[in-house]
Amino acid sequence: MASSKPSSDLDLVALIPAAGFGTRFLPLTKSQPKEMLPVVDKPTIQWVVEEAVASGITDILIVTGRGKRAIEDHFDRSVELELALEKAGRTRELERVRAVAELADIHYIRQKEQKGLGDAVLCGARHIGDRPFAVMLGDTICIDSKPCTGRLVEVFKEHRKPIFSVFKVPPMKTTSFGIVGGTPVGDGLMKVDRMVEKPPPEKAPSDLGILGRYLFTSCIFDELRKTGPGVGGEIQLTDAMAACATQHDHDMLALTYTGQRYDIGNIPDWLAAHTQLSLDSKYGKDYAEYLKGLEHD
Ligand code: UTP
Repeated sequence: MASSKPSSDLDLVALIPAAGFGTRFLPLTKSQPKEMLPVVDKPTIQWVVEEAVASGITDILIVTGRGKRAIEDHFDRSVELELALEKAGRTRELERVRAVAELADIHYIRQKEQKGLGDAVLCGARHIGDRPFAVMLGDTICIDSKPCTGRLVEVFKEHRKPIFSVFKVPPMKTTSFGIVGGTPVGDGLMKVDRMVEKPPPEKAPSDLGILGRYLFTSCIFDELRKTGPGVGGEIQLTDAMAACATQHDHDMLALTYTGQRYDIGNIPDWLAAHTQLSLDSKYGKDYAEYLKGLEHD
């Protein structure tokens, strides 16, 4: 099992919320999780788990719900398939199948009702206890020379403050993100004093939006327990973060991320992610030729 892999000296856990309904993909997500949507040659959530492992975190808690069994099956051994591949001498495929099951120590907990991202995070409280932990949205892929979560871990080791990643949001897109305001305290680092959920551009405190990678301390659980339903009747993680950030002894930091980020939660962005990452992959040459051919048709 993955416990033999190097893990951060912080004893970190990564919590991956993956229990949402994925209504923007219906009917595709009627009986299959959106976190299992393919991007190039693997499901979205595998990209996320691989980022956690590359960040030194191998204790992973995935929050699932009804209809999400495919996620557990994906990271499990598949003995029948393995035997069939072995018998057929398909060594490369066999290695790839086994590697997925050995990526990390993955645990599961079910969110019984889809009450929002904040509630999904709170589901992990007992497993996580007092340890610092990363939250990595199960429908967001980040690609950079250094893993996005790994950067948060580095800054956390230095400052020991909750921290999350933000990225530059185009002016007209502020209405799709939590936007933060605060004081610069270092290279790309900000002490956060304000978070506004999906503001119009003229009310946005900056152009920096929350992207789906966080590193929290247990302060967030204390706040989530007190947080009632917010925007859309859901328990919003941002509300609990804002409450933490305004407590004197609980500064919260935001680190600007400049790598690629793909939100798989809506169809246009999923298509864009699949296209871009396919072009960057070993299939890129053929795929680029195919796309070029379409331009001439
Ligand atoms: P989203 O809000 O993008 O997911 O949550 P959703 O609710 O599935 O999307 P739509 O609007 O219905 O299409 C971001 C992440 O948080 C998880 C989702 O699975 C996704 O990975 N989530 C969201 C939960 O785990 N539980 C929830 O109650 C809501």
